[in-house]
Amino acid sequence: MTGTKDSSVRKALITAAGLATRWLPATKAMPKEMLPLVDKPAIQYVVEETIAAGIQDIVMITSRGKRSLEDHFDRSFELEHYLAERGKTELLAEVREIADMADIHYVRQKEPRGLGHAVWVGREHIGHEAFAVLLADDIMHSSSPLLRDMLGAHQHTGASILALKRVSEEEISSLGCAEVEAWGDDPAFVRVTSVVEKPAPGTAPSDLAVIGRYVLTPGIFAALERTPLGAGGELQLTDGIGQLMKEEAVGGVIFETGRFDVGNKLDFLKATIELALERDDLGPPLREFLAGLTGHGQD
Ligand code: G1P
Repeated sequence: MTGTKDSSVRKALITAAGLATRWLPATKAMPKEMLPLVDKPAIQYVVEETIAAGIQDIVMITSRGKRSLEDHFDRSFELEHYLAERGKTELLAEVREIADMADIHYVRQKEPRGLGHAVWVGREHIGHEAFAVLLADDIMHSSSPLLRDMLGAHQHTGASILALKRVSEEEISSLGCAEVEAWGDDPAFVRVTSVVEKPAPGTAPSDLAVIGRYVLTPGIFAALERTPLGAGGELQLTDGIGQLMKEEAVGGVIFETGRFDVGNKLDFLKATIELALERDDLGPPLREFLAGLTGHGQD
């Protein structure tokens, strides 16, 4: 541990600028962050998670064609009027609440130059304080304490904190990978000793993947400025963290459950089913439907 400092985190940066070619044609005229999981767009889960962790000031990094994200978190007077006139008070309250949820600012990443670049374009809004980063492709279950645990670890150490999860050898090559050592007595809290973005098959230094939640010190911005372009010819956040580690300790919180990668279609379907099964209105009939499918597709 590097000693305690006053390090409460007030701001979060949510990246929602990606092009989503994996989701075409669904995302031809609609951002992938608006794909619904049951009846809420994916991005709303991420904003709700941020607020649940106690952060109200959000800068969302968007890009061309993402205006519906701004509309989603804005007031919609026509819709509110329509719902009010028809006495649909519960829906009206829900629609209003979305607009009042948080103080969201939008910054555009003008060119797709990588996740590190997307974080860097938010630097003016963040300023010289530690901040959380949430990637909109990664959805955490509402019961997950991950972000709060990471903020606690940051509060305790003053260090940047990564979210880490053990994954299979096949998966690690499409993710960031971290090598770690013990940092105190809690096995779920570690010191990161090296990071590598998308290691070639068979070369990953560990099975710990970097998942899309970070608490970063403002030193990341200077670190990103001296980071060479990496995987895919893009400025990688993982490489920026590697540069930061030359000057500051970086920690990690290892977690096991509650994450869906909604950039991945199978994970998206699983998330939809899991979230719908938890609902009082949809759970029972869906469970019955799924039970009826047993053996489906088998001889
Ligand atoms: C990004 C990061 C990667 C991380 C992943 C988590 O990759 O670059 O380090 O493991 O998110 O979802 P992407 O999925 O944008 O290729």
